[in-house]
Amino acid sequence: MKRLHIVSNRLPFSISFENDNPSLEPSVGGLATGMNSVYKDFEGKWIGWPGIASDTKSRKELQAVDRLLKEEGCKPVHLCEQEVEDFYEGFCNNTIWPLFHYFAQYVDFHASLWDAYINVNRKFADTILETAGQGDFVWVHDYQLMLVPQMVKSQRPDITIGFFLHIPFPSYEVFRILPWRDELLRGLLGADLIGFHTYDYQRHFLSSVRRIFGYEIVLNEVHIDGRIILVDSFPMGIDYDKFYKAALNIFHTPVKERSEVHNELEKYFLMSDGKHLILSIDRLDYSKGIPNRLRAFEKFLERNPDYRGNVTLVMLAVPSRDNVDHYKKLKSEVEELVGRINGLYGSINYTPVLYFYRSMPFQNLVELYSMCDVALITPVRDGMNLVAKEYVASRINQTGVVVVSEMAGVVKEMGEAIIINPNDEDQVAEAIQQAIEMPHSEQVRRISAMQERLRRYDVFKWAKDFVNALQKARKVQTEFL
Ligand code: UDP
Ligand code: G6P
Repeated sequence: MKRLHIVSNRLPFSISFENDNPSLEPSVGGLATGMNSVYKDFEGKWIGWPGIASDTKSRKELQAVDRLLKEEGCKPVHLCEQEVEDFYEGFCNNTIWPLFHYFAQYVDFHASLWDAYINVNRKFADTILETAGQGDFVWVHDYQLMLVPQMVKSQRPDITIGFFLHIPFPSYEVFRILPWRDELLRGLLGADLIGFHTYDYQRHFLSSVRRIFGYEIVLNEVHIDGRIILVDSFPMGIDYDKFYKAALNIFHTPVKERSEVHNELEKYFLMSDGKHLILSIDRLDYSKGIPNRLRAFEKFLERNPDYRGNVTLVMLAVPSRDNVDHYKKLKSEVEELVGRINGLYGSINYTPVLYFYRSMPFQNLVELYSMCDVALITPVRDGMNLVAKEYVASRINQTGVVVVSEMAGVVKEMGEAIIINPNDEDQVAEAIQQAIEMPHSEQVRRISAMQERLRRYDVFKWAKDFVNALQKARKVQTEFL
């Protein structure tokens, strides 16, 4: 195979500066963590934004950033402060993100933000054009770069382009709200292969293509202007063995050498029998259903006085997009709810919600996964949700219960979880109780079945399937011409 370049807005590493010296930190989010496990298998570059506003740094600092990234096989696309504001915080995260997650009331329809989206997509396309050799493959990721496929294809038809959307593609009735719907679809249709997490998102996309342009669609192929575009679903997996082995490793590490997070949680269990820890981990995002989760947990405590003192919700909320208004408001709402629940049901020895507003290193994440009895995953919309999969992979003794929202892509692969509607707080409160009281043998039966499935279709298999389909797309194209 020729070289394959990966392109995404967020690189797998973000830059942080300490005393003018840049260093790399792993980026948070499903795209970065998932692709980070596979990208070194391809001989190509990872093109993306390193997460800083370039005009706030000196030329020397930027050169140091570029050097660090080069060592990791990454090629930066630098964005200035205005581009970060209008493209990243604006059109990406205040227009497309809310619309595609069915938060139509949050959508900002500003033509100036759309212009910034076009300009930054052009910047990415230009970087691809100067990086890709004759006949290379390019794999473009996510909603920030939907115009890139067409921008590249129109200049370099020799490049085979795959596009994968990591968020939901909404139903036509929602998508049509967008004034720039035609342009976005045209941008995507520059790709030779378009992939989604689930069949539903694929179906929604094809239905928009049919209704907006009237193009001929044969099974999962779109036929236009002498080209064939393949459209398919590829549910993204995780690096299963990495989580499983890390969890095993914790188990075999002497107590003294375990981390502070681990020992604190262990102390909690040792306080008395019958303690339960419920875990939630998400970026602090309104699509993740954090307020409804908290209200459901409050209901659970209200209705089950016997569990007060014994059931704790460990909630890790990772700071995300904190310059965007709706994210700021969410932060206050969550803090208020946490305060209310802890005020109502807490005591000197008991904090009902242990709330952390930060990110944690991999080791601590696995400790949380392996020590909590229940994973409570309640997004009101989520493209996939890899956290649910990571929890299952980390359960080395096959116990544990997943409560998962029917609005998350992951639910399609988790028939053995307790499935809830996140808007039904009574149902979620009951699900918490059911999870805590689930017999051991039933937990093992459910977790083992999910482990088997996730182990087989891991992130490597996912990437391999996508790349195979991309090769097929090139073949179909050549035969068709
Ligand atoms: N994650 C992380 N550090 C943290 C918390 C989470 O790297 O402190 C990772 C987590 O392991 C998972 C990803 O962030 O791989 C979140 O992906 P998910 O699909 O659940 O949601 P997204 O953030 O992509 O919407
Ligand atoms: C989701 C999106 C990714 C994004 C990630 C983190 O997973 O699908 O494209 O990178 O969230 O968000 P951020 O805005 O920090 O890149």
